[in-house]
Amino acid sequence: MKKNPFDRVEIADGDITRERVAAIVNAAKRTLLGGGGVDGAIHRAAGPELRRFCETLDGCETGDAKITPGFLLPAPFVIHTVGPVYRDGRHGEPEALVSCYRRSLELAAEHGCASIAFPAISTGAYGYPFDEASRIAIRTTIRFLQAHPLPKTVRFVLFGERDAAAFRKVLGNIRSEDAPQSEP
Ligand code: APR
Repeated sequence: MKKNPFDRVEIADGDITRERVAAIVNAAKRTLLGGGGVDGAIHRAAGPELRRFCETLDGCETGDAKITPGFLLPAPFVIHTVGPVYRDGRHGEPEALVSCYRRSLELAAEHGCASIAFPAISTGAYGYPFDEASRIAIRTTIRFLQAHPLPKTVRFVLFGERDAAAFRKVLGNIRSEDAPQSEP
């Protein structure tokens, strides 16, 4: 297995519903009953069985995550997490967003997922500033990977090259900031 956690992170521009990974993460709403954006795309691609399964889950709190089968998706699992609605960054939004990534990674590891794909949680309808959200996503993931062998690979799947380029830039910045500890 690759030692350096930064080597276990991949960034791609594409549609997360097409990802061939063990689990894709959905930026869901608290009811878990589907919506727009990536939530809508995942429910459309997974088929009606996904919503029927979610109806048995009694929703999900902001910052928490729940796992379901992927049904018609290429990915066997969907991890539904509920991101914070951004107000001003002083109402617990950063902590909730950290929790979304950490809880999703914990569930993936508990279910033996070797690979997981994340969208940019909360950066659409929930209005989280993209740059700050990308830093939280990458920092939280690196910290988790430093302490856990699974998932082996974490992919951030962004909707458009501009967003993917922004994530790559943040990954590079964090890697160079951390270089003394993690790389000779
Ligand atoms: N693949 C990858 N990323 C996608 C896709 C897709 N198919 N569709 C949208 N995105 C991106 C958006 O461009 C954005 O960067 O996912 C990110 C998250 O945006 P939203 O889907 O709006 O999610 P979020 O901001 O977390 O808001 C969640 O919106 O759709 C409702 O039910 C959902 O209430 C919930 C809220």
